[in-house]
Amino acid sequence: MMQVFNTITALQNTLDDWRAKDRTIAFVPTMGGLHDGHLALVKLAKQKADKVVVSIFVNPTQFSENEDFDQYPNTFEQDVLLLERNQVDGLFSPSVEQIYPQGLDADIDIGEIGNILCGASRPGHFQGVVQVVNRLFDIVKPNLAVFGKKDYQQLLIIKQMVAQLSLDVKIISHSIVREKDGLAMSTRNQYLSADERKVSPNLYRNLLELKREIQKGQAINVAVKQARMQIEKNFKLDYIETLDANTLKQITDNTSEIAILCAIFIGSTRLIDNVIFRR
Ligand code: PAJ
Repeated sequence: MMQVFNTITALQNTLDDWRAKDRTIAFVPTMGGLHDGHLALVKLAKQKADKVVVSIFVNPTQFSENEDFDQYPNTFEQDVLLLERNQVDGLFSPSVEQIYPQGLDADIDIGEIGNILCGASRPGHFQGVVQVVNRLFDIVKPNLAVFGKKDYQQLLIIKQMVAQLSLDVKIISHSIVREKDGLAMSTRNQYLSADERKVSPNLYRNLLELKREIQKGQAINVAVKQARMQIEKNFKLDYIETLDANTLKQITDNTSEIAILCAIFIGSTRLIDNVIFRR
């Protein structure tokens, strides 16, 4: 049976029990609205540790004023069923007061990587992500934690945080889980109208086409310009960039893996996707 914890004390009592029995603990942080992408992380966590803890916490500090914090999908009952079915051991579902007893102000410097791409379109977003993940790690103290490559910039920023703070947690990543037609699974896909849902798979197609052009030897800036035009046929482009996948800096002669990273709007819904490939 899965245990559900609403308080830090209740969670930590059980975690202490598990640790006393030498059980290893894998942690999967989420904001709920669970789909098969989240569940793939859970399955991977299950393979890597004795006990799996999932958190569902819609973190206010990673949303800006004009964003969807108040509308963010809440499918808690169904999430609980899905997690039970996937043999999760503990669900941590805390209140805002539990996570931020001293208020929401973050004082975290994550450097330039937090200000590019999604960080440029969503000022303060990654500061909020690092704030909450650091707090959750501090509470759960997992041996390892699983993140999805869907949020590729987030994954790199978390790895950087772990290195900078010398945290004793191993970060494991899972590839992007997609719908049959290629659309990357996302809680926000629920916002799409039937018509928007129909055009949405074009984003991934456009990114794959760009990848092919680059692999054929097309100059990157030319290929990106073409891709930009294709994407703008269906979407309002937020950004599309090709960067070194390991550093998210400009591609150099030393670049071994390229990341194509993209964010678009369909109507008022903002979606992200990416393709990572060897040169
Ligand atoms: P959320 O968007 O709920 O995502 C939770 C985890 O699921 C993240 O690691 C994300 O990358 C992963 N994920 C989402 N969709 C995926 C997909 N289609 N394929 C693979 N992995 C996918 O990311 C967050 O929540 C928050 O920022 C959080 C880290 C919980 C901090 O609040």
